[in-house]
Amino acid sequence: MKLFLDSADIEEVRLAASMGFLDGVTTNPKLLAAAGLPVDDLVPVLCSATRGSVCVPARGDTSEALVADGLSLARLHPNIVVKVPLGPEGLPAMLRLRAAGVRTHATLCSTPNQALLAAKCGAFYVSPFIGRVEELGGSGEELVARIVEILDNYEFETQIMVASIRHALHVEQAALLGADACTMPWSVFRALAQHPLTEALASEYRAAGRQHS
Ligand code: E4P
Repeated sequence: MKLFLDSADIEEVRLAASMGFLDGVTTNPKLLAAAGLPVDDLVPVLCSATRGSVCVPARGDTSEALVADGLSLARLHPNIVVKVPLGPEGLPAMLRLRAAGVRTHATLCSTPNQALLAAKCGAFYVSPFIGRVEELGGSGEELVARIVEILDNYEFETQIMVASIRHALHVEQAALLGADACTMPWSVFRALAQHPLTEALASEYRAAGRQHS
């Protein structure tokens, strides 16, 4: 399963890349605004910090605007995947971007049917927002399980990137369900490798090693 960092903070991206298991980066309008740099300047820097895909949201309220911005974002770097919001404007934009050879990432997915439409419109990734769904009382696990089954039933090539991850257990659930990727904030990314028992044992073993030498 691919592990993505959900961040537009260049220091976080560099730290995550240095850990050795970063597969790519996702951004969103809030993260880009917080980074405080023009998108066209920031995105190439993010791309230079990871070998993998960098998912960047297309801006616009109409299909035409999403396509135009998606095409211009895709020209910034070969690793860019254009994020397009699910909905009546986004779906035709995904089709047109795909026809132009641009990979798209269908975002804000809240239902299995939306994922089916994204796959039919040729999205490269589709992201169920499990944290948001759970905050509204739904089941993130059930959402992902249904999308996995539907996309498998018809052998769509669209990859499922679980998003809106709130804690490490969400990553484990996504992996058990066979999702292709997860994107998570830095707080969760760095916590994946840690556990209090592992740390306590490591320190016990280090102390034993010092006594022995
Ligand atoms: C993914 O691509 C999104 O940027 C991300 O997971 C957003 O989730 P959140 O706004 O619920 O944190």
